[in-house]
Amino acid sequence: MSSTLQQALDSLKAGRPAATERLHSLIRIASVSNAPGFDTELDAAADWVAEQLREIGLSEVRLHRVGATDLADAAGTTEATKARRPQLVLASDDSAGPDAELVLFYGHYDVQEEGPAWSICTAFDPKSVNGRTYGRGAGDNKGPVIAFMEALRAWKVGTGRLPVRVRIILEGQEESGSGAIIDFLASELGKAFIEGASTVLVADTLASPDGRPSITFGLRGLSYFHLEVLGPGTQTHSGHGGGNIQDPGGALAHLLASIWDPRTRTFLVPGLVDRVTPLSEREGQLLDTSPITAESMQKESGGVPALIQVPNSTPARQMGALPAFTVHTLITGAPKPGATPTNIPTSAEANFSIRLVPDQNPEEIGRLVEEHLNGVVREVLHDTVRIKLTMEKGSFPVRFSPESPQIEAAAQAMTSAWGTAPAFLLAGGSIPIVGHFQALLPAPIILWGGTNADSSFHGPNENLTDHNFFASAEGMVHLLYNLSTVSRAA
Ligand code: BES
Ligand code: MN
Repeated sequence: MSSTLQQALDSLKAGRPAATERLHSLIRIASVSNAPGFDTELDAAADWVAEQLREIGLSEVRLHRVGATDLADAAGTTEATKARRPQLVLASDDSAGPDAELVLFYGHYDVQEEGPAWSICTAFDPKSVNGRTYGRGAGDNKGPVIAFMEALRAWKVGTGRLPVRVRIILEGQEESGSGAIIDFLASELGKAFIEGASTVLVADTLASPDGRPSITFGLRGLSYFHLEVLGPGTQTHSGHGGGNIQDPGGALAHLLASIWDPRTRTFLVPGLVDRVTPLSEREGQLLDTSPITAESMQKESGGVPALIQVPNSTPARQMGALPAFTVHTLITGAPKPGATPTNIPTSAEANFSIRLVPDQNPEEIGRLVEEHLNGVVREVLHDTVRIKLTMEKGSFPVRFSPESPQIEAAAQAMTSAWGTAPAFLLAGGSIPIVGHFQALLPAPIILWGGTNADSSFHGPNENLTDHNFFASAEGMVHLLYNLSTVSRAA
């Protein structure tokens, strides 16, 4: 083994207790981006990670707030919300020399809101128990971001330099659609920042349910909607109005049920699946040996009566290669436990989303869903209600080759750290910026899955095992070394 690599690994080992402390410190900052009211915490988290990068000794670290004057954003974003968008943390280091490989690392310091049902600790008061760190963001994405920073620190402290040049972009808006970073990458400033990157590293996906680390070669996209159904102008007694006045909740149920049919397990929105591209033979082979199985899905879900079985498909294909419809929230009237109201409410609303696969386009899906729902209002509901549909966030699906020298370098690095080779997966989740990297750079993208599959992303008791945290950091120490020897011509 190279002596510098050994020095970096030794340095990483010596820094273990401090690394866990640093993860706790970042989790304690409630940098929530998918609910309003956390601007101060988002700024504090940006400051915290920037300060760490400076302490590690990266040559340039700055905060950048993509403002209202930047490029036009996705439809629907108002100037007011743009002005308060969380800052980007940008860092670079060229001390490896002008000819060294340039690695672009992306991560996010924002998290989803706390949510209900935490029992081991509360979301922003982390605890390390039974070999895991619990707290919001432990897995998604604070743990992996810290793991990467530990790898940089190990190289800088252990050897005085990094083996590759780096560009780092950390955003604070991933959980609400990544508007600021998308605008940044479309600007000249952003393009110049990532120019020349020969590898992109993103560690925001899950490891295999069987415990192996993973390399993900595709992500689903997303079209996320808020649907409001407007009924009568004032509440009426259903005995008086029922039969003449359509209740918005019932109408909403019809609208949602018109999107996807559980009997045939197919989408009913005309055109929605037109661009669903079949898997290549190689992709199909990888999925047929996927560790994503009916058993793993049952186990991770805490048990469901039965899984959805799409005819001629498999759980791995249903996760990674088919679109999926989900209702996230649903409300009408003023629900109170124990109360049994008999009125007709004035409105109903729901958040729902459709996960997308190549080559579906989030905006186009938005238009198809809107046309379809308008048709249902006319033809099924006979214009008895009005609807307002807003697409809240979108993300392009991505798929890339599981074979490149960079991916091979990552697979070897993972094998060194975990003692077992990675599984190749198609992930069901979305990371909005990845499609933009793919469009802007010729560089392979490594989706590094070092977070335990039972880490409870977005759920209660989110956690990261110490084993995966340190293996990720160690693997990334190896990866930076391996990438320094990858031939750019390859
Ligand atoms: N880390 C996740 C993406 C993910 C989830 C990858 C599960 C693999 C498995 C990411 O932080 C995330 O949650 N993204 C959002 C994006 C959306 C808000 C645009 C998602 O997928 O819901
Ligand atoms: Mn997330």
